[in-house]
Amino acid sequence: MAVTSRLHHVIESQQFSRALLEDLIARADEIKREPQRFIGRMAGQVMAALFYEPSTRTRLSFEAAMLRLGGQTMGTDNAREFSSAAKGETLEDTIRIVSGYADVIVLRHSEEGAARRAAAVSGVPVINAGDGPGQHPTQALLDLYTIRDELGRIDGVRVALVGDLANGRTVRSLTYLLSKFKDVKVWFVAPPQVAMRDDLKAHLDEHHVPWVETADLDSVLPDVDVVYMTRIQKERFADPEVYNALKGVYRIDGAALARMRKYAILMHPLPRVDEIAPEVDADPRAAYFRQARNGLHIRMALLDRLLT
Ligand code: CP
Repeated sequence: MAVTSRLHHVIESQQFSRALLEDLIARADEIKREPQRFIGRMAGQVMAALFYEPSTRTRLSFEAAMLRLGGQTMGTDNAREFSSAAKGETLEDTIRIVSGYADVIVLRHSEEGAARRAAAVSGVPVINAGDGPGQHPTQALLDLYTIRDELGRIDGVRVALVGDLANGRTVRSLTYLLSKFKDVKVWFVAPPQVAMRDDLKAHLDEHHVPWVETADLDSVLPDVDVVYMTRIQKERFADPEVYNALKGVYRIDGAALARMRKYAILMHPLPRVDEIAPEVDADPRAAYFRQARNGLHIRMALLDRLLT
């Protein structure tokens, strides 16, 4: 089915329709199956990557995606220090300038709402690559793709989102996407200090998606198809004592794995700190490295959709 919904800026998960998500998933499947068919499609196009916060996966998979499509990339890591932000330039002015040089801007920033501010002044598409504790919609796309790839379906899936849900932009974006599918059920597993924010729970209620909130991970493990671990985000805590009290609160090890369903999958947006023991990596249910790899294919599909 042809999908006609326009996609310009990519700011938040709510803007994706189910039809558009299915189109991107199908395109990512094609790219994975026959990568040679997509070589050169972005010839002559330039992607700017502006990263004001650290990144390994998002930055490099976007760059690899653009290069594999035949386009070129430029950008700055640690833009707060190495761009003219260090001299006091506003984000808006930086974006006005860079949008004159590039065909698409991939932006990671520490402030929630930064991608929306950038889109308001940009002449070219802006892709939100994570805005503080706000959203990370392209991570959610690769997460959704991974669920479909690993389990063969998204409708009816039972998902536990675990860890720092108050500060976790990946879990926020993924929850919005899951709410577009049928018969999904979500468990929010977190200590009360970093529980999922009320706006997301209200969104699920509005879309008739059942959800459960608990701090007890062990009791949830046998009931779900997807265990989505996240790290407690040290950089978001003003008080180190609060971080120290929470770090290590959840850990998947061999014993926890034994409580999971035989065909369930274990996901993590990465980087992990100590939420998943290395001994778990060899288990076929450990999907997190395959998940990171899927970031390349879904970001190729997204760039292809935006720029061709
Ligand atoms: N998952 C994710 O956003 O990883 P990076 O911070 O390495 O980009």
